[in-house]
Amino acid sequence: MALQDKIKELMALREQAKMGGGPKRIEAQHKKGKLTARERIDLLLDDGSFEEFDMFVSHRCIDFGLEKETYLSDGVVTGYGTIDGRLVYVFSQDFTVFGGSLSEMFAAKICKIMDKAMKVGAPVIGINDSGGARIQEGVKSLGGYADIFQRNIMASGVIPQISAVFGPCAGGAVYSPALTDFIVMSKDTSYMFVTGPKVVKTVTGEEVTSEELGGANVHASKSGVVHMVPNTEQEGIMMIRKLLSYLPQNNLEDPPMSFCDDPIDRREEALNEIVPENPNKPYDVKEVISLIVDYKEFLEIQKDYAPNIVIGFARLNGMPVGIVANQPNYLAGVLDINGSRKAARFVRFCDAFNIPIVTLVDVPGFLPGTAQEYGGIIIHGAKLLYAYGEATVPKITVVLRKAYGGAYDVMSSKHLRGDINYAWPFAEIAVMGPKGAIEVLMSRELSNIEDDKAKVQFIHQKVEEYKEKFANPYVAAKFGYIDDVIEPKNTRFRIIRALESLSTKKDQNPPKKHDNLPL
Ligand code: HXC
Repeated sequence: MALQDKIKELMALREQAKMGGGPKRIEAQHKKGKLTARERIDLLLDDGSFEEFDMFVSHRCIDFGLEKETYLSDGVVTGYGTIDGRLVYVFSQDFTVFGGSLSEMFAAKICKIMDKAMKVGAPVIGINDSGGARIQEGVKSLGGYADIFQRNIMASGVIPQISAVFGPCAGGAVYSPALTDFIVMSKDTSYMFVTGPKVVKTVTGEEVTSEELGGANVHASKSGVVHMVPNTEQEGIMMIRKLLSYLPQNNLEDPPMSFCDDPIDRREEALNEIVPENPNKPYDVKEVISLIVDYKEFLEIQKDYAPNIVIGFARLNGMPVGIVANQPNYLAGVLDINGSRKAARFVRFCDAFNIPIVTLVDVPGFLPGTAQEYGGIIIHGAKLLYAYGEATVPKITVVLRKAYGGAYDVMSSKHLRGDINYAWPFAEIAVMGPKGAIEVLMSRELSNIEDDKAKVQFIHQKVEEYKEKFANPYVAAKFGYIDDVIEPKNTRFRIIRALESLSTKKDQNPPKKHDNLPL
């Protein structure tokens, strides 16, 4: 073959690979409102930055007549490129080839880019759209999954791993995204479950649709498996790009600083008035966050799951930070099982990737009741406590209003190596709320008062005395548990100064094989 013909052959093979499972299947993919594997990569990466690997790989299966049906790339597109100029590795499952099902060679392609990402210390983004294990390949396919899982585990806490679920993701296949740091799942076109509706019906008799069992809304609000739910794939891809802008390339680097011309000393009068006079009245902590952070930009994570605690990324004078805030607007900001797990995982992520943590506290305590106790609030609450206690990144805490009981300790208190702990003048830091405290402390006196009116008056008087004595920030400040009581309008400035003072912070935990986090 002449040299020119060889080049033509290469081009023809490339074109063939780019067509995946062929025009009909591409059309079917589009008809479902889905993009193809390559279209997704094109949108995700900077223009022209994609370098593909293993385009000429095909499967090696000779069972079920598969030897007669091969496709270049074998159902997954892999390689590297850049996002905002920063290196990332990607794989994108191609539903047009055997329903994106995973074969031995398909898995080997994913493992190859994961190994490379680990060597150079760059994030991995995986786009999932697959019918699961390629049935014809049997145990080779199962082995391929486990090879990926093992790499997900080794990469955890070393390089950021982000998953998109833009189609089916069922059976054991769900465990690769589950092992990664963040899952972005598109509405209507995707679902995730360990066993599908048919098996559910056979085993439990329960009738349920795929959407009800494992649609994006279910995982965003009920299971908490998913972190972000875009309306479209395009929006989801932009979310991934945005998310990465807050993250370092790996655990040995600091998160990227951005230019910031939002004045660091921007004073926000509104913050002086945001907390209602009545301590039982709610307010939206997201308003507090937006008044404090650069350009009011906050990337909220898991916004529909356990809304009693708010987590997400923002910047302060250009420095990425993770924000954890109790939300008085939902269940009074109480800590419960779901909220504790949600925040614990986030705190651990930030700590693993050198992202300072800013904690805004307004918490009346842990949620009481049998549902919580039987569900193991003890062990789940301990996760958050553990996460804060082990974190060595800069930790800045502002008590906005309530910090009661165990929840005071948990929420990045001084005692859990909180670096700089501030309180607003409205803060109430005590073992419990005034009314509960008086009912416990004065139960004998109360039982001696027969007249109801007199009882109410007595409680009112004692509550006021209690508030005066304990429900304020100054007792904690007296012991140095609070470094300063700050005027709310200055909060942005004070946190930025605190962060700057901690930029060279070094702290470490004792050497160990690994911890025994209460799972
Ligand atoms: C081989 C598969 C496949 C699979 C789909 N295809 N799933 N080929 N192995 N697992 C093929 C189909 O034969 C079809 O080929 C093409 O992909 C598109 O599939 P359709 O069924 O036409 O598409 P759709 O109607 O959109 O349905 C998609 C689907 C369905 C819901 C994913 O295909 C399905 O239920 N597949 C089986 C899912 C499954 O049970 N997987 C195993 C799970 S267990 P043609 O040639 O017609 O285009 C598992 C274990 C992992 O994954 C364990 C890890 C530890």
